[in-house]
Amino acid sequence: MNTYRIAAVPGDGIGVEVIAAGVEVLEALARRSGSFALDFKHFDWNSDNFVKHGHYIPDGGLEELKTFDSIFFGAVGALNVPDHVSLWGLRLPICQGFDQYANVRPARVLPGVKSPLHNGQDIDWVVIRENSEGEYSGNGGRVHRGLPEEVATEVSVFTRVGVERIHRFAFELARTRPRKQLTLVTKSNAQRHGMVLWDEVFHEVAKDFPDVRIDKELVDAVTTRMVLKPGTLDVIVATNLHADILSDLAAALSGSLGIAPTANLNPGKQFPSMFEPIHGSAFDITGKGVANPIATFWTAAMMLEHLGEVQAARQLMSAIEAVTEAGVHTPDLGGTATTRQVTDAVLDLLNR
Ligand code: IPM
Ligand code: MG
Repeated sequence: MNTYRIAAVPGDGIGVEVIAAGVEVLEALARRSGSFALDFKHFDWNSDNFVKHGHYIPDGGLEELKTFDSIFFGAVGALNVPDHVSLWGLRLPICQGFDQYANVRPARVLPGVKSPLHNGQDIDWVVIRENSEGEYSGNGGRVHRGLPEEVATEVSVFTRVGVERIHRFAFELARTRPRKQLTLVTKSNAQRHGMVLWDEVFHEVAKDFPDVRIDKELVDAVTTRMVLKPGTLDVIVATNLHADILSDLAAALSGSLGIAPTANLNPGKQFPSMFEPIHGSAFDITGKGVANPIATFWTAAMMLEHLGEVQAARQLMSAIEAVTEAGVHTPDLGGTATTRQVTDAVLDLLNR
């Protein structure tokens, strides 16, 4: 029997509530399968502990995390810590330190969920986000602080290696989907260095994938296409910041940010990959028991798939879809169900 060691890092806000729900569901799946087991270890790396001790990740923490098969992550961000401090204190050191360069964000309108689009049923996308460089490289600085002549730079970094590997990943993924279509998102009309390299390398990599249909869209224009002609898109590859924005749009068009999952993958499996809901800490509903656990369950399904437990991943996706279809919806989806009720509905199906 395979035993996978999972590092659970609930983090802040509703991260704590949804990861607890996710762990319950994953444990039920493992019991049901009889063929694999999950060994969870919980890490209390969060903003409260940062305020008390001055760090999110203790000494040796990343080294320990490396020994796990996967990381199951909730959210980071708190009202009393500046966002750039919490992000660079916890999430980015893991993404960048573990070379999780491929961020995968599927978007689809689940059964029973209402899209704000009249043709929302046509949404079936995967947004591939470059996750290691670009606008999030952390390269830049501030000088003459506080003076009128203060200067700050935020330098986007595009490397041939970084660009090539994300495009290759996107092509490989597009190839596995029925429509085999990949849209390059760019802004090479205005940004004439990094974005031009981004486009050139895309077309070089495309030569190795003659079976994948390609097209190209400027990032501003692709937003209109997502809204007006959702059925014309399949897999989308975009830079770190562009895909950050497009994936929120994709989530909203799919019915709610509360259902959108994400995987931060180290495709070579040299380091563990990290799986998290997109939604973040959500202070407004923290502690109320109404956070939508569906994003975390979908994320858990992506984690199982990455671990090779494809059958369990499918079982979980079917249970999720049966529950959304039956109308067991939290308030973000217009319902009145609690986190507990949605979790119980999924568990009930898995325990049958
Ligand atoms: C996301 C989030 C993060 C990001 C925030 C929390 C910094 O919006 O995962 O999409 O921009 O990467
Ligand atoms: Mg985002």
